[in-house]
Amino acid sequence: MNKVILLNNRPVGKPALSDFSFTTDSIPVPPVGHILLKSIYVSVDPYLRGRMNDSKSYIPSFEIGKPIQSGIIAEVIDSTHSEFKKGDFVSGILEWKEYQVSNGKGLKKVDQNLSSLSSYLGILGMTGLTAYMGLIEIGAPKAGETIVVSGAAGAVGSIVGQIGKISGCTVVGITGTDEKAELLKSKFKFDYAVNYKTSTDLNRAVKKACPEGVDVYFDNVGGEISDAVLANINKFARLPVCGAISHYNDTKIPVGPRLQPILLTKSAMMKGFIVGDYSAKFPEATKQLSIWLKEGKLTHEETIVYGFENIPQAFIDLFDGKNKGKMIVKI
Ligand SMILES: NC(=O)c1ccc[n+]([C@@H]2O[C@H](COP(=O)([O-])OP(=O)(O)OC[C@H]3O[C@@H](n4cnc5c(N)ncnc54)[C@H](OP(=O)(O)O)[C@@H]3O)[C@@H](O)[C@H]2O)c1
Repeated sequence: MNKVILLNNRPVGKPALSDFSFTTDSIPVPPVGHILLKSIYVSVDPYLRGRMNDSKSYIPSFEIGKPIQSGIIAEVIDSTHSEFKKGDFVSGILEWKEYQVSNGKGLKKVDQNLSSLSSYLGILGMTGLTAYMGLIEIGAPKAGETIVVSGAAGAVGSIVGQIGKISGCTVVGITGTDEKAELLKSKFKFDYAVNYKTSTDLNRAVKKACPEGVDVYFDNVGGEISDAVLANINKFARLPVCGAISHYNDTKIPVGPRLQPILLTKSAMMKGFIVGDYSAKFPEATKQLSIWLKEGKLTHEETIVYGFENIPQAFIDLFDGKNKGKMIVKI
């Protein structure tokens, strides 16, 4: 039998296991020119929360009663496709199913001799590209500057900080546990780490960590953490807005300090982006990330959860900060 995970209903607030349902169908037989795929690694990502809402966005909503989709590494186990053969591994946006048929569109072959299969969902996949594009294209870091990154111990944040160090900057990370703060300094070589959950005055904590002010703020979370960083930006600061996870489960429109006077008086630039905006530059960015990885200038962390049935819980756990680095489910 083939296990499948469906969206059971649209979450209100933080997602719950009851928002997902399990079903089974038979293992499909691929028509001529198609491939049969077996899921190996499934990526769970904060952005999937937005797709569970019934609202217009940059990517279509999931439909109730239909399979959820995310980045998946799968093995080709049967093929009559001209470009994919049995035993190949591919990466693509696929359904939360153990087995599925594809016509090959949107799939990319991945080579486990060059890097681990799971790395193609993280550092050499969407989150690595997000870190690279957002920091290099919008943050435009210059040696000697100070970069602050929130969500720092996660998939995107941990790579942003390391690229910041490669760029010759002082790097400060904001994260939710002392253990993660330690990891930022020991493994990822951040200069300073702030635990936003234990800090009683975040504005002061950021000021202390950044005595010369903040030149680049890579924002993964929004909310009060970002308010505190914005209060400390320098003239001509750049603020790539990558994510706003602190708002993804909001049921009311959040309010906070008005940003215009800060941006105006600091001649600062805040710019939202979706990684796909930069798809033309993905080959060059992937090449650079691979080189840094091979040279040991970049490292990465993964939190691997085991078992197809644990995909929904792994997704929910992102909102409780249970992951270090990329959260991935191994089937
Ligand atoms: N723009 C794009 O194209 C793009 C692409 C990929 C990802 N993103 C966004 O980038 C951000 C990071 O994504 P990721 O895949 O790297 O996820 P991640 O950071 O690996 O995982 C999410 C982390 O967010 C933190 N978090 C959860 N709830 C929070 C809250 N209320 N306030 C502050 N922090 C909270 C947790 O860490 P702590 O323990 O530190 O709280 C958790 O580990 C997300 O907002 C995501 O939507 C954007």
